[in-house]
Amino acid sequence: MTKLNQPINDVINARHSVRTYDGETKISHSEMQTMLKTAFLAPSALNLQPIRALVIESAMVRQQLATATGNTSQLTTASAVVLFVNDRENLTETKPFAPSQQTGVAEHLDIAALDCGLVAMQFMLTAKDHGYDTNPMTGFDHAGFSHILNLDANRYEPLLLVSIGRARQAGRMAKHKALKTLVDFR
Ligand SMILES: Cc1cc2nc3c(=O)[nH]c(=O)nc-3n(C[C@H](O)[C@H](O)[C@H](O)COP(=O)(O)O)c2cc1C
Repeated sequence: MTKLNQPINDVINARHSVRTYDGETKISHSEMQTMLKTAFLAPSALNLQPIRALVIESAMVRQQLATATGNTSQLTTASAVVLFVNDRENLTETKPFAPSQQTGVAEHLDIAALDCGLVAMQFMLTAKDHGYDTNPMTGFDHAGFSHILNLDANRYEPLLLVSIGRARQAGRMAKHKALKTLVDFR
């Protein structure tokens, strides 16, 4: 699909979580890379950029992951699922998803979850602008995923899974709390 360059407010209003996709749309690596490049322009604490993305396209692996998590339709009907992880070593010159180069487990940084949310949000919005829908998920078996995907659990901490594909049915706006219950001014 091609990038539409819609006004950002339109993209934000059009993004809704979609849990069932057409099951057949393929997203090229170059388009996925374009979307992830935009996503990774997100700010990060101290500009440390600790988040890595593993794009899982294989239908067989997605089926294994679906079995492990119970959230089946997103995983099996999506074009891909993107696992965003915290790289505890965060070495800039290392190929991602390599085995750990340290012996001990580095201290967990809670702040990475914030960085991850920002990257994922930008990914979901740019995906929408490319004509795709998405669904962010924390409800998955983090340890099971590390095992199935053969990730070095000392180094990579799974944080958020985002399914992406062409919606079988258009998503709908979720209920939102009234602004007056969310915002105050001083
Ligand atoms: C951090 C986070 C975790 C979520 N985890 C799940 C999940 O495990 N499974 C799921 O179906 N949806 C999950 N969602 C999607 C929310 O249910 C959804 O964003 C919310 O209902 C609002 O709907 P919308 O995305 O259409 O605006 C998650 C969303 C966020 C932000």
